[in-house]
Amino acid sequence: MIKNIQIAIDGPSGAGKSTVAKRLAQKLNYDYIDTGAMYRAFALKLILNGYNSANIDDSIISKLIDSADIDFHEGNILLDGENVETKIRNEKIGILASDLSALKIVRDALVDKQRKIARSKSVIMDGRDIGTVVLKNADLKIYLTADPYTRAKRRYIDLLDSGVKTSLEETLDQILKRDYNDMNRKHSPLKKADDAIKLDTTNLNLDETVAKIIEILEEKINVL
Ligand code: DC
Repeated sequence: MIKNIQIAIDGPSGAGKSTVAKRLAQKLNYDYIDTGAMYRAFALKLILNGYNSANIDDSIISKLIDSADIDFHEGNILLDGENVETKIRNEKIGILASDLSALKIVRDALVDKQRKIARSKSVIMDGRDIGTVVLKNADLKIYLTADPYTRAKRRYIDLLDSGVKTSLEETLDQILKRDYNDMNRKHSPLKKADDAIKLDTTNLNLDETVAKIIEILEEKINVL
């Protein structure tokens, strides 16, 4: 039987995880699982049901997380059967997703779904707790990072490209706040797994980063 391969990519916002993971998944013909999109999809579910950070409580979250059907189809995130890929990519959803990701009840449900998905095929999964919690036995763990200013610059260019008006200062501020929230929450805070390989992309472009990971993969596991 051919073994399914699991590759975990963790790191802070704006480190380039999803772009790198997508590119790697294409090259290796694995499925790319964007776990951040799952937290965002659940945030969208709450908003669609008339809730926000100010009016949710544990019983509402518990009811909605149990009934939320969150899955992927051809790389796109589905919420209750609908492709919501574009609806989840905005700051309002990002902020609510960040708040929700601090709650144990939400994490437990989504981690369960993530493990089920990873059981059936070879995957590249990115997030904050993939190497430390979700796929503790992943074949390869990468911790992707870059200095905050570089991450803010990349995010700022992406936002401008998608028509969002903001400033570099505001983007940097948001990146620093998100880092603080992700690294200091009680449940599954963002941190490098002991056996993850840290890759600082401050001075690497996308092609160089992907090439470096492929080099590491070739050394570590013979999948290419
Ligand atoms: O990567 P992203 O911005 O799409 O993630 C949205 C939020 O979800 C972010 O605040 C971090 C959180 N998240 C998490 O806590 N654990 C994951 N595995 C993925 C994302």
